Amino acid sequence: MHRFIALIIGCAHIVASRQTYADQTPLRGSVPRNAVNTTFHGVEALDYDHYTRLEHPEFPRHGVRVKKTNLCDGVTAYTGYIDVEARHLWFWLTESDNNPSNDPVVFWTNGGPGASSSLALYGEFGPCRVLNENTTVPHPYAWNRNASVIYIDQPIGVGFSYADHGEYVSTTEEAAVDAAAFIAILFEHFTQFKDVPFHMAGESYGGRYIPLFAAELYDQNTRLAAASGIKPVNITSVIIGNGLVDTHSQFQALYDFQCTSVGKTVLDISTCVRMKQVLARCKKWQTAACIEQFEHMNCQAASDFCLDEFMQPYVAQNRNPYDITQLCEVDDWCYKISKDIYFYLLRSDVQANLGTDVDFSNGNQLATRFHADGDFFHENHDYVAALLHRGIKALVYVGTYDFVCNWVGVEQWTLKMEWVGQGGFAKQSLRPWTVNGHPAGKTRSYGGLTYATVEAAGHLVPYDKPKESLEMLNRWLFDGEL
Ligand SMILES: *[C@@H]1O[C@H](CO)[C@@H](O)[C@H](O)[C@H]1NC(C)=O
Ligand SMILES: *[C@@H]1O[C@H](CO)[C@@H](O)[C@H](O)[C@H]1NC(C)=O
Ligand SMILES: *[C@@H]1O[C@H](CO)[C@@H](O)[C@H](O)[C@H]1NC(C)=O
Repeated sequence: MHRFIALIIGCAHIVASRQTYADQTPLRGSVPRNAVNTTFHGVEALDYDHYTRLEHPEFPRHGVRVKKTNLCDGVTAYTGYIDVEARHLWFWLTESDNNPSNDPVVFWTNGGPGASSSLALYGEFGPCRVLNENTTVPHPYAWNRNASVIYIDQPIGVGFSYADHGEYVSTTEEAAVDAAAFIAILFEHFTQFKDVPFHMAGESYGGRYIPLFAAELYDQNTRLAAASGIKPVNITSVIIGNGLVDTHSQFQALYDFQCTSVGKTVLDISTCVRMKQVLARCKKWQTAACIEQFEHMNCQAASDFCLDEFMQPYVAQNRNPYDITQLCEVDDWCYKISKDIYFYLLRSDVQANLGTDVDFSNGNQLATRFHADGDFFHENHDYVAALLHRGIKALVYVGTYDFVCNWVGVEQWTLKMEWVGQGGFAKQSLRPWTVNGHPAGKTRSYGGLTYATVEAAGHLVPYDKPKESLEMLNRWLFDGEL
């Protein structure tokens, strides 16, 4: 496969390393290194040194191991694994600082495929940030100030998630089943979460994960209620940051963003003219091979062709694909903090404290697998539309400096998505939204759908604009608009 595409495909690969690491090897095969209690005596009885196993009769293939963890100098959290037979998905849970039994719950996944949610926890909006491989500092704009936040490393092969026999999930549909089962099992035990609004959020390739995960959870709610009268998880909204919801709009928008007046003109004229010429071919090919009739190999060839044409000149300048105003910071890493997080999580004392079974993995091989399986090339706005039709709201935000998932493509798909509110949404003009009186971006909102830009933020909005991102989240969670 094309080397370039394995590295940065669409909005992929936000671990932001351009190095390839060997596949992870579990430290101790399939034997959990932490002892497990089999009886659950309530959340208060969970302890720091043992896992407790959570089970549910409706999910005989799934179980959850959870323990208390002192996350970073005094922050109480929960960590553990979702065990699906031989597969094990890692999660962190930080309770709301304010009122955990009344405040909303936010589920979060990073993208990639292959990006660990540790990037969000220790680099974007967790209660602490990694300063270097040995040190964390409290983060004043943590998203768990007024909400409990669950971070998951998925699919298998990412971060601390692993499979006993090297088995991997390689489509989002499979990953969605595990994520929905996890939420159901967790909420049957952390019962305070059942009565509060639940929001599913993600960034980058999360633009594919989140619409499918939320749809699976919604359908699972219906199945469980019918089968055994189980109270539904109160799914209220999806939140998608710089998301790859619509690959084709996003790829084609790379041209607009690099070469036209709507974006930033960073390439020379001859490159832009050449790109303009392939744009027509690219649109035609993608429409025929991916949209009108999905043909895996042909769609893949079309997408690879377009990506290569639209990305190569930019990347060749060592520009940061996640921020058009920056160059990649450190060696092969676009952000120093992602390198620091990686080395922090490789420390054995950190792993022992968290209770991980395996060493940390960057999950780089996953982008390749998802690409080979065609997972990249679907359009996901029909899921968002179906959720909106069922009363699940959607916040679609985008940092304006991002290149890979730039705002031009994001705004385009929100406007072209077919749903009952399409006309009404398109009629709304963009209005500024502000934080403490300062403009933070522009927004348009109608019928449950909100589109918002975050001015001068790159792909990692909460990293670049922590204060604005917390304000955005809280307004969405508590006011339902910006
Ligand atoms: C958020 O939490 C703070 C305390 O940490 C509290 O004063 C405030 O009322 C909370 N906001 C909402 C909207 O619940
Ligand atoms: C972290 O600690 C190790 C062991 O004490 C030391 O070798 C290393 O230089 C430290 N790293 C930083 C960035 O301070
Ligand atoms: C779900 O959350 C909404 C707020 O989004 C709230 O009004 C409603 O009462 C909750 N439903 C349940 C069943 O707890």
